This record gives sequence, structure tokens and C-alpha cells, in this order.
Amino acid sequence: MTTASLTLDGKTYELPVIRGTENEVAVDITRLRAQSGAITMDPGFNSTGACESAITFIDGDLGILRYRGYPIEELAERSDFVETCWLLLNGELPNAEQLKAFRAQLTYHSMIHEDMKKFFEGFPPSAHPMAILSAMVSSLSTYYPNSEEESTEVNIVRLIAKVRTIAAYAYKKSIGQPTIYPRNELSYCANFLNMMFAVPAEEYKINPVLVKALNMLLILHADHEQNCSTSTVRMVASSRANIFASISAGISALWGPLHGGANQAVLEMLQVIHEDGGDYKKFVMKAKEKDSGFRLMGFGHRVYKNFDPRATILRKMSYDVLQEMGIDDPLLEIACNLEKVALEDDYFVSRKLYPNVDFYSGILYRAMGIPTNMFTVMFAIGRLPGWLAHFKELRDDDSSRIYRPRQVYTGATQRSYIPMSERK
Ligand code: ACO
Repeated sequence: MTTASLTLDGKTYELPVIRGTENEVAVDITRLRAQSGAITMDPGFNSTGACESAITFIDGDLGILRYRGYPIEELAERSDFVETCWLLLNGELPNAEQLKAFRAQLTYHSMIHEDMKKFFEGFPPSAHPMAILSAMVSSLSTYYPNSEEESTEVNIVRLIAKVRTIAAYAYKKSIGQPTIYPRNELSYCANFLNMMFAVPAEEYKINPVLVKALNMLLILHADHEQNCSTSTVRMVASSRANIFASISAGISALWGPLHGGANQAVLEMLQVIHEDGGDYKKFVMKAKEKDSGFRLMGFGHRVYKNFDPRATILRKMSYDVLQEMGIDDPLLEIACNLEKVALEDDYFVSRKLYPNVDFYSGILYRAMGIPTNMFTVMFAIGRLPGWLAHFKELRDDDSSRIYRPRQVYTGATQRSYIPMSERK
């Protein structure tokens, strides 16, 4: 076994070195504090691994993303979302029988308890659907309270099956339309589109191009190893909180504009530029001014420093879908111009800021008729199998401990309590 040496205050410590199957190297500091009293510092966790995981491999420099060894490009082209869910959760592609049974289970569990429909009535019409989604997912634990004693497997199926129903109900509620029940003969994605866009008065024709695009979008978002929301799910799960509470926490973490909320922020930014007369160069200049506090949403990524492979796939898909649907979107034109300028500008090039997956996903969702405030919900539906695979991996690992980082304290040192009469 190779080791790494760390010398601190003149004393040298030998630390074990772990190597992953793709030759990633990690210095194991688990025992450093016990041996030396020191901890390591890494705010933002740029150089910190929190676990070993066999689910997803990313090489940010080379633009590689693989689920269970399979390249994202192949899955996006040849798989569908339900099959990819199975792959992430079980480690292998399903055989025909397993896939059929999994699809049937997702259909069987797609309805939510009738009483839960009343919850939707309690939210104001302006409620953000991410707030509703996280509240509803947490509420599922009240309907399946013995989730720890029941098999995790059935709760995983419940969550994947019900999340699209909850998301579509939240949308229907926000526009004041009656909810549409899931239909058993429809595929996972077609069922979601039907629940979103069908109205009782007339037949809704499901467009196969949109079903394909939705499958692809959900596959591309399905996992991304230890990102903010997945780490949150693992953090909450490490306390042995139930699966619904853990996933609900992941949804909340995803909501932020620096993470899953970026797809909504991208569209809002494009809209602002459009309404301002379309002068995208002005906004590029603004993004370069540190004091402006403005960033080009959809640009940059903590891990990908050359290109985001998901963005490459979605870029092509956006053009295909818009062409197929005959949509001429001024926001897409602004997006293309922004992309071109930023890719040639030294500020962005030197900082390796490239369009990320969210730069294009918003355009696609908009073309599909999905409203802007539902974009992050779409991301959550896609990311759910990843969160669940990580939940399962952590819980199946008997050696896993509660997540509990340390800190370096920088506050006041000990002092005596001051009575009110002596305070200034
Ligand atoms: N526009 C302008 N400048 C940027 C941008 C941007 N979008 N992103 C980073 N920078 C600059 C920073 O100001 C910093 O400049 P400096 O070195 O002169 O100080 C440098 O690039 C590095 O940025 P950091 O914030 O240190 O990079 P970090 O890895 O912490 O952040 C993040 C990555 C959060 C994605 C960032 O690039 C960002 O805010 N992007 C916009 C939001 C976005 O698109 N988020 C979606 C992420 S993808 C996802 O969640 C699926």
C-alpha cells in the first residue's frame, strides 16, 4: 500500500493512499486528527472526498460522465429514463423481464393518496413548486411511517413513481386547473406530459418528440456524484433519517440558483436581456465586472473545466426540438450569441467558464411548454434516481458513520458574562 507523508510541527505522519478504479488518488486522513490533533481545511470541499462510491464517474478535465461505467452519450441516445433509473439503483442494465416488472411497479405506485390532494389546496397560488415538492415528499413519510422497517426498495419505487404525479399536481394547482390522474397505459414520461398538459374537456395528443426529449433530459440529470444536493441527501441519510426526509432535503438543496435553480435563472436572465433590447454584449461586460454581482447564469461548473458533456448533447437536442416544433425563439438567439461571445472572451476562456447543462435545459423545457418556475422541479425528477442510489449505497454500507465535519473556531476566546447594568 502506498502512503503519503505529512509533516506537521516537525513530526511526520504516514497517511494511507486510496486509488479508485479509474486511478483517482485520495489521501486518507481519517485518522489524522486522532494521531496529530490537527484537521484539514477545505471550505467548498474542492479537494475533499466524503465517500467511496461505485455509481458515477466524472473526469471534469476530459468532459467524461459515466453512470455505472456506461458513457452518458450512449445512455442518452439508446436508453430511456426508467431503464437508467434501474441501472443507477442496481449497478447493471436490467434484462427484459426485470425492466418490464420495474415499469409495472412504477405504474402501480403512480397515484398519491387522495387525502394528499387536500395539501395542495393549502398553498397560495403563487407558491413555488419546489416548495410544494419538498413539502409533499417529506409528507409521504406520514403515509408510509414505517419506512425503515419496510423494504427500502418499495419506497424507492414509490418515490420515483409519485414524484411526477406530485410535480404535475403542483403545476395544475398553480394555474387553477383540475388535476389529471396518471394513466396506466402510458410510459413514464408520456404519463407526466399528460398529467401536466391534458385538460378534461379535450384529448391531449402526446408528441413522441417531446417524450424522447424528456427522456433524454431526465437521463442527463439522473446523477452527478457528490454534488450539493446528493451530498445533502447522504448527509441527512447518515443520521438514519427516513428516505422521504432525506430526499426532501436534497430537493431543498437543489433549489438554489447556484445549483439546480440555475436553469430557471438562465431563462430569467435571457428574458431580462430580451426585454432590455437584446444587447447581450452589455450583459457579458456586466458579468466581467466583479462589483456588479452579476454572473452569466448557465456558465461555469465546479467540476467541468473544458466542457460539460451533457451541455453538448442538449445543445444539439435543443435545435432538433425547436426545428421539429417550428419554434422560432428570440431567447434561443440571445443564448447562442451569449455562448459565442463568452467562448471567445478571455475572461471566460481563462477561467474555463463554459456553458453547463442548465444553459440549454431551460430552452428545451420552454419549447416543451413547461413554465419557468417548474424547471428546477424537472431537474429534481431527473436527479431522484441518483439521490436514491446514493441513499441506498450509504445505507447498505455497514461501516458508514454519521457525517460530522469539524471546524476551525475563530470566535471570541473565553470571557465572563457581563451583567446588563455594565453593558454599553
Ligand atoms: N459568470 C461570470 N463569472 C463567473 C461565473 C459566471 N457564471 N462563474 C464563475 N465566474 C468567475 C468567478 O467570479 C471567479 O472569478 P475570479 O477567479 O476572478 O474570482 C472564477 O470565475 C471562479 O468562480 P468560482 O465561483 O470560484 O467557481 P466555483 O467552482 O465555486 O462555482 C459555479 C461554480 C457555482 C457553477 C459558478 O460558475 C456559477 O455561479 N455559475 C453560474 C450559476 C450556474 O450556472 N450554476 C449551475 C451549475 S451546474 C448544475 O448545478 C447542474
